[in-house]
Amino acid sequence: MAAKILVVDDEIIAIRSAERVLRSEGYDVEGVLSGREAMLKLEQNNYDLVLTDLKMPEVDGITLIRWLRNVKPSIRIVVITGYPSQETIKEALELGIIDYVPKPFTPAVLSDVTQRALEWRKCGCEAEKSKEEIPPAMLSELDRVVKEYKNKPGSLIPVLQRAQEIVGYLPPFIQKRIGKGLNISPAEVHSVVSFYSFFTMKPRGDHNIRVCLGTACYVRGIEGVLEKIKDSLKINIGDTTENKKFSLEAVRCLGACGLAPVMVVDQDTYGAMTPKKAMEVIGQYDPSFTGATAKEEAERQLNKEV
Ligand code: FES
Repeated sequence: MAAKILVVDDEIIAIRSAERVLRSEGYDVEGVLSGREAMLKLEQNNYDLVLTDLKMPEVDGITLIRWLRNVKPSIRIVVITGYPSQETIKEALELGIIDYVPKPFTPAVLSDVTQRALEWRKCGCEAEKSKEEIPPAMLSELDRVVKEYKNKPGSLIPVLQRAQEIVGYLPPFIQKRIGKGLNISPAEVHSVVSFYSFFTMKPRGDHNIRVCLGTACYVRGIEGVLEKIKDSLKINIGDTTENKKFSLEAVRCLGACGLAPVMVVDQDTYGAMTPKKAMEVIGQYDPSFTGATAKEEAERQLNKEV
């Protein structure tokens, strides 16, 4: 069944664009123009995800998020906002939002954030299953690091960095373990993990490819590059190839807009990307990489057989 999403924004244009993008991805989307209308909808229906603006008359986004946290705490929340102050975003993160999308948003950014927010829901259900996959020695080392940082101010980010070095990624149960050890709520830990692109909730391959979907890169054609990478590696954003060689991530700005469109592999930045150039770059990290899509491979196979 398609995931159900409620979009809350006092600008009809923002609602229509979100609806267009998300419906094309197969989601069941509804939009409302105020926080008050959203409350009424949420009281009567179940949604998997709420995408909400912050600045709205009467019931603003923060009030809506606070209300949701009390009445429907399991609903995932993503904020869509124009020019948020640091304080407002900090407050929203503390209330447990999963992520935020700056306005105006590109379709690719909205799709990516939505997909990740919905996946977080799945991860939560599978938390205990993944626990068995982590060797006990890793967990002991992680507990030692948490103990070392306990009661030190600003310890969360360094502990998460160390945890990612130890375990390789930050699945929900590791986040909960860290939160418990540092006396920080799981929602706050999760907000920080979702906020910073260098943290990952899934295991990564030998090489991590980050493709920038920020505005400068988007207008210069990164979408075609991303599609080519996805087709040739046969994975989606957030996934790792079957041979565990490459992981693919989408980020919102790599701070190299002058080189747009940009992708980064591990620590190396590549600018002025085209689909063809991206294939050459990936080939440098894996000589066996051909750049062929599944369809091209099937055609080659067919020609061989003929
Ligand atoms: S928008 Fe791509 S590097 Fe800034």
